[in-house]
Amino acid sequence: MLSAVERKIEQYIIELDDRDVVRLYRKLPHGKRLRAKLILKIAGNSLRVTKTAATVEMIHAASLLHDDVIDDAYTRRNQPSINALYGNKTAIMLGDILYSKGFYELNDIDKNVSKVISNAVTQLSLGELNDVTLSESFNIDKSLYMKMIYQKTASLIEASSEAAAILAGKRVEPYRIYGRNLGLAFQMIDDLLDITSDSKTLGKPALHDFVEGKTTLPYIYLYEKLSADDRSRLVSLHAKRLSTKDQEWIKSQMHKYHIVEQSYGEAKQLIDEAIELMQEAGEPALSGIAKDMIDRSF
Ligand code: FPP
Ligand code: MG
Repeated sequence: MLSAVERKIEQYIIELDDRDVVRLYRKLPHGKRLRAKLILKIAGNSLRVTKTAATVEMIHAASLLHDDVIDDAYTRRNQPSINALYGNKTAIMLGDILYSKGFYELNDIDKNVSKVISNAVTQLSLGELNDVTLSESFNIDKSLYMKMIYQKTASLIEASSEAAAILAGKRVEPYRIYGRNLGLAFQMIDDLLDITSDSKTLGKPALHDFVEGKTTLPYIYLYEKLSADDRSRLVSLHAKRLSTKDQEWIKSQMHKYHIVEQSYGEAKQLIDEAIELMQEAGEPALSGIAKDMIDRSF
């Protein structure tokens, strides 16, 4: 049960015996708890499962606290981010506290589970670093983008799915692939929403990724389609503040070349594969989570 996971996180935070941390934690919006839901759906209800889900969510929350500092993001889930409210130092330290407490608790659960999750955190960090490095220029290499989103986002979802299979004594391979596909599709859709959603729905300015220097999949596909002159125009806008006219031009070119459909189709294919795998594994209930992933605000 998801409420048991919330209570477990709350208990871990209270154990830290620091009123400021409790107050700060309560300021954090919870999000969808996707990773916890996945773990519970695969491994059912037991104390070990609840604890694993709680620690993964704490690690995920820590990574977003750090990410908002790295990205200079002042909103998270339509609310002011911790760095916006209390500054970078507090956001980083709260992240470190959630991360290290989560890890401490994880050590007590299962050696293989803790290995899988800790490996994913290394991948997360490598992915975040790659994201920053790739943002320094206009990246047109799709394989670099795919590797980066695998590390930055899919690795922890893959690890959640694998850890749950370990706890449930299930064959890990199909669950690992299921989690990886879900994670990749999740980030691809996230990157698409940055282009298709208005800034109010998104809680951040429109085309924010491109302004930040991130050439996500739609920009890579658009670049491939454009004429030499238009390529130069697109590259010249990279990592700059965009005027309304520039924004409209980018969106119109995306529309002209059906870029959203192309990128969405690729995410959908990953989800379809994941659903098929789970149907073969006799787990049709896991299709719902996969479908929710690509239906977000479309
Ligand atoms: C969000 O990406 C960022 C991540 C999914 C991973 C961030 C990972 C780290 C900062 C390294 C690990 C650190 C710890 C403490 C475990 P995004 O910026 O594309 O998405 P957004 O739109 O949600 O900000
Ligand atoms: Mg970010």
